[in-house]
Amino acid sequence: MRRIDADTMHRKVQNLRCEKVQLRRRYPDGCQAYGTELMEESKFLFKRHQTWWVKVAVPRTLRDTLGYDLRESLHTQDFEEAIAARDTVVSALKQKIHDVREELKSSRACRTAVEPDDESGFEIVAREDFSDVTFLLEVDAPLLARAAKPGQFVIVILHKRGERIPLTIADFDRDKGTITLVIQVVGKSTFEMQQRCQKGSHFHGVVGPMGFPSELGTKKVVCVGGGLGIAPVFPQLRAFKESGAYVIGVVGFRNKDLIFWQEKFEQYCDELIICTDDGSAGIEGRVTLGLEKALDKHADIDRVIAIGPPIMMKACAETTRPGGIETIVSMNPIVVDGTGMCGGCRVRVGDDIKFACVDGPEFDAHKVDFDDLMSRLGRFRGDEALALDSWKEGLA
Ligand code: FAD
Ligand code: FES
Ligand code: MG
Repeated sequence: MRRIDADTMHRKVQNLRCEKVQLRRRYPDGCQAYGTELMEESKFLFKRHQTWWVKVAVPRTLRDTLGYDLRESLHTQDFEEAIAARDTVVSALKQKIHDVREELKSSRACRTAVEPDDESGFEIVAREDFSDVTFLLEVDAPLLARAAKPGQFVIVILHKRGERIPLTIADFDRDKGTITLVIQVVGKSTFEMQQRCQKGSHFHGVVGPMGFPSELGTKKVVCVGGGLGIAPVFPQLRAFKESGAYVIGVVGFRNKDLIFWQEKFEQYCDELIICTDDGSAGIEGRVTLGLEKALDKHADIDRVIAIGPPIMMKACAETTRPGGIETIVSMNPIVVDGTGMCGGCRVRVGDDIKFACVDGPEFDAHKVDFDDLMSRLGRFRGDEALALDSWKEGLA
C-alpha cells in the first residue's frame, strides 16, 4: 500500500471532497478510514496560499443575490487553529444567509403590497373555479375578441416580471369584447395566476390571437378533449356545429366532481360522451374508449379533433390510424417568443420540422412525433421546479 503523509492527505481530501469513490479507489483500506475522518474533521475548510479558509454553500434560491458560496479567511496556516475558529465563522456566514433570505422575503411582500397589479393591462372581468387546479378567467380584450377564431391561442404575461404563458382561447364573445381562458395549475406561473388573478385585477400583457385557425369544412366530426384540452376543444366544436356539421363531443375527467361546461357542450353537440376515470359519471375509462364507441357507431366520421396531454393525443392518433380517419391535434410544446424566431416550439411532423406558434398549433396527428414532443416538454423540469420553490419561499 502506498504511504502518504498527513499534509498530502489534507490536500487530497480538499481536492477530492466530492469524489469519495475516487479517494477510496486510490487509497484503499488503511487510508480510507483516515481520509473519511479527515473529511469530516475538515468540513467547511479549504486551504488557499497556505492559509485556511471557510466555505459555506449558498442555497440555490439565493444564488442570484449571494453567489454560489460564502468564503472567509481564518488567517492561519495551522490546521488545529483553523478547526478551533471554524464553527464561529460558519455560524456567522449561515446567519448572513438567513438574514438575506428574510430581507428578500420582506421586500417581496412589500412589492406585492405596493404593486399587486398593473392597472394599465387587460382587466379580468370574471373568474370561475372548476376545481382546486382548474379555473376560468374572462378577460376584457375587445380587439382580440373581434379577431379571435377557433383553434388560436394567446400569450399572457401576468406582471412586469412574469414569463410568457401560451393559453388557448377557450371562448370569445365579440359583443362583450371578452376572451375566456381556462387554466390548469401545473407550475410557478399558473400557481401565481391562480393566486393573483381575481375579478378586477389585470394581466400586464395579452398578445394574440396566434396560430392558424382550425379548418372547418367537414360533415361529421368527433371533438375529443381531455385534461388541459377540454376547454380549448370547445370553440372548435361550436364552430363545427355552426358550420352545419354533425358533432360528437368526447370529454374526459378524473371523476364527476371535476366535470365542467357540460351544458355548454350539450348545447352544441349532437351527441356528447362523457368519460370518467372512476366511472362516477358517463362511461368508465379514458377518452379513447369514448372515441372508439363513436367510431363503432358512425362509419361516416370524416374527421377527429383531439386536444389534451400529448399521451392522450398520441392514443387518439393510434385509435384512428387503422381506419385512416383524418385526425388533427393541437400541439402544446414550449412556446417562448411566439414569433417563429426562437425555435422553442419546434415539432416533428413527418419529415418536416414545424414551429407550432406560426405553422400550427394544429397538425396531422398521424404524422406528429409525440415522443419527441414529450421529451422536449421535459427539458427544463429542474429549472421549473427551482422557480416554483423560489416562488413558494417568496423569493421569485
Ligand atoms: P412550469 O413549472 O414552468 O412548467 C410545467 C410544464 O409546463 C413544463 O414541464 C412544460 O411541459 C410546460 N411549459 C412550461 N413553460 C411552457 C411554455 N412557455 N409553453 C408551453 N408549455 C410550457 N395550459 C392551460 O392550462 N390552458 C390552456 O388553454 C393552454 N393552452 C396552451 C396552448 C398552447 C399553444 C401551448 C403551447 C400551451 C398551452 N397550455 C395551456 C400549457 C401552458 O402554457 C403551460 O402549462 C404553462 O406554460 C406552464 O407554466 P408554469 O410556469 O405554470 O409551469
Ligand atoms: Fe419561438 Fe415558436 S415559440 S419559434
Ligand atoms: Mg414556468
